[in-house]
Amino acid sequence: MQDGTDRLRRKGRTIAFVPTMGYLHEGHLSLIREGEKHGDHVVLSIFVNPTQFGPEEDLDAYPRSIENDLALAEKEGVDTVFLPNEKDLYPERYETYVSQETLPNHLCGLNRPIHFRGVATVVTKLFNIVKPHVAVFGQKDYQQLLVIKQMVRDLNFGIEIIGAPTLRESDGLAMSSRNANLPAHLRPSARSLSQSMHHAQDLLHRGETDAHVIIQETSDYISSHPETDIDYVSLCDPNTLVDVDSILPQTLMALAVKVGGVRLIDSMILTQ
Ligand code: PAJ
Repeated sequence: MQDGTDRLRRKGRTIAFVPTMGYLHEGHLSLIREGEKHGDHVVLSIFVNPTQFGPEEDLDAYPRSIENDLALAEKEGVDTVFLPNEKDLYPERYETYVSQETLPNHLCGLNRPIHFRGVATVVTKLFNIVKPHVAVFGQKDYQQLLVIKQMVRDLNFGIEIIGAPTLRESDGLAMSSRNANLPAHLRPSARSLSQSMHHAQDLLHRGETDAHVIIQETSDYISSHPETDIDYVSLCDPNTLVDVDSILPQTLMALAVKVGGVRLIDSMILTQ
């Protein structure tokens, strides 16, 4: 892979990179299409990264379908699919990790303490292997996008990071590989995440600026649906992820909820 990208770079090609954990859906495909706008050689990686899953998390249950992924990648015109295996990326005696001081101490990092260290580490490794000029990440994983942008700035990667909008199902549910593990009868519960954020935006438009009131109403709405277990409902500064007491001109609303045991996240920028 490294030799291949070196050759492409020598020929003056621009490499756009889309890292994923596979089980591709339209959201991933939209990142590929975005990559095609910014580079003339698109590399897609598929690797379910064990270091970003905690011991009690769903690494084994994470959905996989490599044949279908390869067919979709080909149809989208991806130039290279990079499929490392675990031993390639984490050989015996592996011991180097990339971690950050403050961004991981919010939102998903609170209940997933090693998650962002795993993400930053694997993305660093993938960047060093793929050597892209541009890399595309989804705003759906808002905190992850911030972590990557900060890491690229702090460690001088010289890679342009593009954030692409969240693609949703027609009922508003944010597309996610994990949706495959959602039983059909819990669809209204899953839908309550995006609905509650629209409700929060309405409250704000009607003049409610107390973050605690909005969080309470949002939480009550989600909890009124079966088999929902809220991890967090947060209103925070979109740059630092620090919780706010009253709404800013732009405030990030971020949610993580287990629906029937499947962990879903979603987020939206609320505007006054
Ligand atoms: P994965 O969950 O497979 O997501 C790969 C990329 O697709 C991420 O940038 C994610 O934000 C984006 N994405 C997921 N759902 C989306 C949606 N509905 N609309 C738009 N983009 C969406 O995120 C990861 O994998 C991993 O943490 C990874 C970065 C690959 C590191 O292991």
